[in-house]
Amino acid sequence: MPIESSSALEPAGESAERIATLFWWMTGGTVVIWGAVTALVVYAVWFNRTGFSPESVRRLILIGGVALPLLFLSVLLVFGLRQVPLELARAPEGSPVIDVAGEQWWWRVRYAGSDGGTAFELANELHLTVGEPVQLNLTSPDVIHSFWVPSLAGKVDMIPGRTTHLQLNPTRAGVFHGVCAEYCGASHALMAFRVVVEGRGETRAWREAEARDAATPEPGTPAARGADLFLSTGCGA
Ligand code: CUA
Repeated sequence: MPIESSSALEPAGESAERIATLFWWMTGGTVVIWGAVTALVVYAVWFNRTGFSPESVRRLILIGGVALPLLFLSVLLVFGLRQVPLELARAPEGSPVIDVAGEQWWWRVRYAGSDGGTAFELANELHLTVGEPVQLNLTSPDVIHSFWVPSLAGKVDMIPGRTTHLQLNPTRAGVFHGVCAEYCGASHALMAFRVVVEGRGETRAWREAEARDAATPEPGTPAARGADLFLSTGCGA
C-alpha cells in the first residue's frame, strides 16, 4: 500500500479532523482581523487627509484596539478549547491499549493484549482498525521524543520517567506517516514509523501473525545464514 499524504490538513482521524477544523477557523479569524486593520490603514492614508479628531481617535482605540480584539480572541479561545478538549487524549474505557516507547532512534511498539489478544512487541509500525479508537501510552527510556502522526492526531511528547497519553481514532483506511517531532539527537530526522489503517479482519489477521513465534529457517538456506549472522553480531551490525 502506498503511503498517503502526511499533511495535518488532510485528516484521516477524529483528532486530526478537529485540529484541521480549528486551523481553518483560526485562519478565517486571522483573515478577518487582517482585512479590517488593512482597510483602516488604507482609509487613514488615502481617504482621511484631514486627520482624526481626538474624540474619534479615543473611540477608535477603545473599539478597534480593545473591544474587538477582546471579543474576537475570546470567541476563538472558547471555540478552540471546545474543539480540542483534553478528554480527547483518552480512548473510551475498554479500548485496545498500545504502549509505544521512543528510543534513540526508533519506536518500540507493544500491543498489550488488553483486548483479549496476545501481547507482542515490534518496531516502527502500528496497525489500527478503521473506526476503532485505541489508547496509546507513550514513554521514553532515554531522552524526550514526540509522537506525531499528522494525518491522525496532534503530537504528544514522550518524557523519561512519565507516561503520556494519546487516543488514535482513524476514520479512513490507508498507510500514514509518523515522525518524531522533538529533536532527540543525531538520527532524529530518521526516526519515522508508519501506521497501517485497515479493516477489522485484516488487523486481526496481522495481529495473529505477529503474535506467533518467528519461523526457524531451513538449515543451509541463505535465511539460516542470515539468522546466524543476526544472532552472532546483533541487529545494528
Ligand atoms: Cu526521537 Cu526526535
